[in-house]
Amino acid sequence: MAKNPNYGIDAPGLCRFFFIGGLTALTLLCLALMWLPQSGFWFLAIKIILAIFAIYLLGMGCLMIYDSKITKIATRDQLLSTIHWLGDEQVLDVGCGRGLMMVGAAQRLTTGKSIGVDIWQAEDQSANSPAGAMENARLAKVEDRIIVQTADMRKLPFADQSIDVVLSAWAVHNLKQNTDRECALNEMMRVLKKGGFLILSDIEHREAYAKHLKSLGLVDVKIIFSPIRDTILNIVSFGSYRPFAITGRKAH
Ligand SMILES: C[S@@+](CC[C@H](N)C(=O)[O-])C[C@H]1O[C@@H](n2cnc3c(N)ncnc32)[C@H](O)[C@@H]1O
Repeated sequence: MAKNPNYGIDAPGLCRFFFIGGLTALTLLCLALMWLPQSGFWFLAIKIILAIFAIYLLGMGCLMIYDSKITKIATRDQLLSTIHWLGDEQVLDVGCGRGLMMVGAAQRLTTGKSIGVDIWQAEDQSANSPAGAMENARLAKVEDRIIVQTADMRKLPFADQSIDVVLSAWAVHNLKQNTDRECALNEMMRVLKKGGFLILSDIEHREAYAKHLKSLGLVDVKIIFSPIRDTILNIVSFGSYRPFAITGRKAH
C-alpha cells in the first residue's frame, strides 16, 4: 500500500508532557477512588481535582495531536485554494518543518518551484529534518518541484521581490522576541514580489502580525479564525494556543 506523507506532531515535548501528566493524574484518581473513604469534604476535593487534571491534560494532548494530524492539513488545503494558481510560481514556505505547506503548494505547480526553509528544531516538530521534508515530497510525488534549504527566517537567503507566494504555518511564534518576529515578517515581505500572495498561519500574536504586515504594505488582508473555537482555546490554553491565518497581497 502507498505510504502517505507524515507531517509529524508539533511541539512533541509539550504533547508528551500532557499525556504523561494526564495518565499520572488518571492513575492517582483510580487509586484514590479505590483507597480513599467515600465521604468527607477533603477526600471528595482530592478526587475532583485529580479528575480535572486528568481530563484537562489528556484533552490538551489529544487536541494537539488532532490539530497536527487533521486540522492543519484540512486548513492548509482550504488556505492554498484561496490562491489562483498558474503553476509557474516560485513559492517559499518559511519554517517548513516536514513540508506541510511546501508539499501542498508543490501539488499545485507545474513548472514552478516550492522552496522550504527551516532550521529544523527538534522541539518544534517531531523528527524534524530536511530529509523528512524531502521524504514527504517524494511520497506526494512532487520532489521534482521541491527545494529544501537550511535558513533562519530572520535572514532569508533570497533576493528582494523574488517570490510569488510566501507561506508559513505555525512557525513564527517560535521566535520569542517581538523584534525577531517582526524581523521574520519583514523578511517575508521583502522577498515577496509586488502583487504576490502571503499566507501566514500561527497560534499566537494574531493582531500584532496583522498590524505589522499591513504597515509593510500587505493589502486585501483577511484574518481567518473561528470565533467560538478561538474563545474556548483562549481560555483552556491561557492565551497561548489560538490558531488563525492571515492572507493578503503585497501592494503594487
Ligand atoms: C511547529 S513547526 C511547523 C512546521 C510546518 N510549518 C508545519 O506546519 O508542519 C515550526 C517550525 O518552525 C521552525 N523554526 C523555528 N524557528 C525558526 C527560525 N528562526 N527560522 C526558520 N525556521 C524556524 C522549526 O524548526 C519548525 O520546523
